[in-house]
Order: sequence, then C-alpha cells, then structure tokens
Amino acid sequence: MPANAPIGVFDSGIGGLSVLREIRALLPHEQLIYIADSRHMPYGSKAQAFIQARALTLSEFLCQQQAKAIVVACNTATAAAAELLRGRMTLPVVGMEPAVKPAAAASRNGHIGVLATEGTLKSARFAALLSRFADGLAVHTQPCHGLVELVERGQEDSPAARMLLKRYLAPLLHAGVDTIILGCTHYPFLKPLITEIAGPDIALIDTGAAVARHLRHRLEQQALLAPQAQQGQAAFWTSGDTAQLQPVIARLWPEPVVVQALPPAAISDQLSAQ
Ligand code: DGL
Repeated sequence: MPANAPIGVFDSGIGGLSVLREIRALLPHEQLIYIADSRHMPYGSKAQAFIQARALTLSEFLCQQQAKAIVVACNTATAAAAELLRGRMTLPVVGMEPAVKPAAAASRNGHIGVLATEGTLKSARFAALLSRFADGLAVHTQPCHGLVELVERGQEDSPAARMLLKRYLAPLLHAGVDTIILGCTHYPFLKPLITEIAGPDIALIDTGAAVARHLRHRLEQQALLAPQAQQGQAAFWTSGDTAQLQPVIARLWPEPVVVQALPPAAISDQLSAQ
C-alpha cells in the first residue's frame, strides 16, 4: 500500500465533514476521499443490518479507489458496523464514539448530557462505553430526531433548529449537566446555537480532533503517512443528488468542491431501509 494513497472517509451525509476538517488541519498532505451517503440519510433511525450493508458497500468502493485507511466519520455507523468492517478489511479502520471518557474527566459536578442518534444511544457499544467510563456519573441521554436533516439542508441556524434544540436541551439543563457530548458528527455544526441556548458555562465535547489524532497514529505505526512534498486534496462522492449537495459542501469546505455520483452498484442496497 503506497503512502501517497488516499484516506477514505464516509458518513450518512455531510456530518463527517466536521471530522474531515480536523483531518485536513492535522494531516495537510493527505489525499482525502469523502462519501456522503445522502440517499440513505439519516442512519440514526435505521436497522443495524441496513447500516452494516451500507458501511460494507461504501468501504468496498473506497478500497476500489485504493484507500490506505478508512475513517467511519459517523457515530451511528461505527456503533453498527465498525467491528464488522475490521473483520472484513485488511486496511486500518478508524471509527468514532461519543466522547464519554473526556466528558467524565471534564465534568465538575458529575452530570453529563449526551446528544446522539437513537441508533447510537441504543447500541451495545454505547452501553459498553458507559459501563467502562461513566461509573458513578449521572449520564442524561437525548436522541435528537430531525437535527441531522436540518444540518443536511444547511439550516443549522434556523428557527426550526432552535426550536428542536430548545426541546432536546431542556431536560439536560433541568438535570443540571455541566458537560454535553456531541455524539453525532452533524452536531458540531450546531455548536453556536447550542451554546446560545445552553449558555457559555456548559462544556461541549466532540470527537473530530481526537479521531484525526488517532488516524495519524495508526498511519504512523504502519509507515503510511503521506510524503511532505504532497499537497493534500479532497474528492467528494455521494449516493444522493450531486447538484443539491455541491453548494452545501462548498459552504463548509474551504477548498474548491466537485461532487461526483457514486456508481449505481454503490448506491442501492438489496436490503430494505427498515
Ligand atoms: N452523522 C451521524 C452520526 O455521527 C449519523 C447521522 C444520521 O444519519 O442519523 O451519528
């Protein structure tokens, strides 16, 4: 596997761009391939078998593009499919999960909130995470239906987003949390609004930078870091509507953006969505 090969990154939609920008900041020489699985978004309410099928299909496409590593830039897909991917792929697979351990270290009063999708919060992986790192803490979880779709439409600062966030944050604030985990890669785009509603004293913790550091470590271990002479570029693919996605990604990504359509075999899946 050549060190100048690309890193493949995928999410149900554009949420993973919050991880991609951390990867770009830490590893400016890497070639990046990003897939937004927009046709099948949101993952949060879908069956585990469906998400596993999508994760496998997208990872196979990334392997065809000669990816040297895969980053599952999605908490829901990591919970559903990371172990499966690791069992099937020979290349490094980096996943992500709600930052319970850093939140436990940051909290002063032991009350932590977790905003995430239903899929993540119901997963065995999340339960294992809590029993490992949240012993003795009060963890208040909140599934956030509808937020992902608003971010996908570029409406992260809209009245609809404000209304939903007020509703989802109210029980956490009532419980007195001092730390909130953003357990979905779409939510960092909602940070300004969350801070406005929750107030500046509540710490918001997300995982993008930690994932980028972990990725660098994995690449280093395998002597797969890109040569310093190489200037990194990003290529974007989607299972959804390229024309619709183009301006949404362009708004969030600081370099010129071209969005390409995935080949038909990587778009549809045999399994039904539910
Ligand atoms: N961005 C994803 C996550 O981190 C999934 C959002 C969704 O499609 O429901 O969980």
